[in-house]
Amino acid sequence: MGSRMSLLMLFLVLCHGVALTMGLWRTEVEEREEGHPRPDKLFMMLKSKRVAQTDAGEMRVLESYGGRILERRLNIGFINMEPRSLFIPQYIDSTLIIFLRSGEAKLGFIYKDKLAERHLKMGDVYQIPAGSAFYLVNIEEAQKLHIICSIDPSESLGIDIFQSFYLGGGAHPASVLSGFEPQILETAFNASGEELRKMFTRQHEGPIVHVGDSHATSIWTKFLQLKEEDKLQHLREMVQQEQEEEEEEFVAEEEKQTSWSWRKLLESVFGDEIKNTREKVTKKSPHSCNLYDRKPDFKNSYGWSVALDGSEYSPLKSSGVGIYHVNLSAGSMMAPHVNPRATEYGIVLKGSGRIQIVFPNGSNAMDAHIKEGDVFFIPRYFAFCQIASRGEPLEFFGFTTSAQKNRPQFLVGATSLMRTMVGPELAAAFGVSEETMNRVARAQHEAVILPTPWAAHAHDHKVKEEVVVDIFQKLARNEIMGF
Ligand SMILES: *[C@@H]1O[C@H](CO)[C@@H](O)[C@H](O)[C@H]1NC(C)=O
Ligand SMILES: *[C@@H]1O[C@H](CO)[C@@H](O)[C@H](O)[C@H]1NC(C)=O
Ligand SMILES: *[C@@H]1O[C@H](CO)[C@@H](O)[C@H](O)[C@H]1NC(C)=O
Repeated sequence: MGSRMSLLMLFLVLCHGVALTMGLWRTEVEEREEGHPRPDKLFMMLKSKRVAQTDAGEMRVLESYGGRILERRLNIGFINMEPRSLFIPQYIDSTLIIFLRSGEAKLGFIYKDKLAERHLKMGDVYQIPAGSAFYLVNIEEAQKLHIICSIDPSESLGIDIFQSFYLGGGAHPASVLSGFEPQILETAFNASGEELRKMFTRQHEGPIVHVGDSHATSIWTKFLQLKEEDKLQHLREMVQQEQEEEEEEFVAEEEKQTSWSWRKLLESVFGDEIKNTREKVTKKSPHSCNLYDRKPDFKNSYGWSVALDGSEYSPLKSSGVGIYHVNLSAGSMMAPHVNPRATEYGIVLKGSGRIQIVFPNGSNAMDAHIKEGDVFFIPRYFAFCQIASRGEPLEFFGFTTSAQKNRPQFLVGATSLMRTMVGPELAAAFGVSEETMNRVARAQHEAVILPTPWAAHAHDHKVKEEVVVDIFQKLARNEIMGF
């Protein structure tokens, strides 16, 4: 009974918020079409910081805030890399979960003291634990690489949004090694001071660099050229060959010892140590997981949604982060719902629409126009819904702060709290007759993703507007709403 009551309260809280915003609803839709969204952006992540920028690429991070209201914060990062570029080897003080938005990448990272490499394609998700060294290469000749990542600050030093420690580097960025006295390095590397000076002073192009023929000024490219004149040609062949092999069998890929040029590049930077560990390359490192290889968890004529949790991609268990992707067709809306277990972060991948979020006290917390590239967050327990604009689908992707099945609770719709609880109690709570309650609660035939009157095809299931207005008016007068 207790949980039933709290569900009821939750529902009422939501309804109250909707009631308060009902008046705004229609004008908002019209305003939105004219491109004048309301200014309040309480749950939009707007604090953007460029943490790396070179002509080969950039990384931007949106910092999470929200004070005590958030049980756990995640920052959201965007990495864009030009064709044939390298995000130089580094480790950072936060766990990264990367999602390949478009393009293809080679991710190299140290896993259990061995170098592992993964070829990542669109939709792939990969977790890089805090403190684990990695590098990223855009291997494509012509295609840009776009990555979205969650950056979990729970293990961070707190110096900045996150802190990178570059392994390779020189004048800019500095390598973490460059702080040691020359003598220490000479001894550690067992190399001459002259050789090491060369290595630690040349790099000045920032953390993302071009590699390849068209930008031969890069020190990374020079390394390649110095080592092997026709390396670039080899590189192309090897990358192609590798791709084919990888498509064949993943086990075979794990066992494979590629002699890919980037590895040699790293060897030339790091010396023999890596070469020695190379003999034991990547036996069993976690595989990536693709968001699009799976069937949607929910699908109807108005859209679909898919979620990835720790049971499908086990590394997520350790980070306690889940991933989801939703596609609403033009004019459809996600029914008002709450995440009882997690804070949700969302990034609009495509299209535009709106998001409404309701405060616990039932007042409207945010009603914002959202478009491609926008990032929003919804605190745990808060009721909210997203609506695709009439003219185009709304596609968003994001992270939740739980690696367990998130199980959002839908408040309205064919499978919802309202439907489950319909009965004399609910009717009494609204102060309407059971018959009215029944009619309203059962009027919506669709669940989870709903058609809206402002979508072209959506008129058939619409509940009579007067009935809704009536129930909300009664609701607004009802004493139970005093909390
Ligand atoms: C350092 O390099 C020299 C010359 O290559 C080699 O003889 C020596 O064994 C190396 N020392 C260590 C500790 O690796
Ligand atoms: C999202 O849905 C629209 C149709 O509403 C479709 O055109 C689009 O391809 C879908 N996007 C993805 C990534 O499936
Ligand atoms: C509801 O809560 C929010 C945030 O705490 C506050 O700003 C707002 O004034 C409250 N509204 C009402 C009607 O109490």
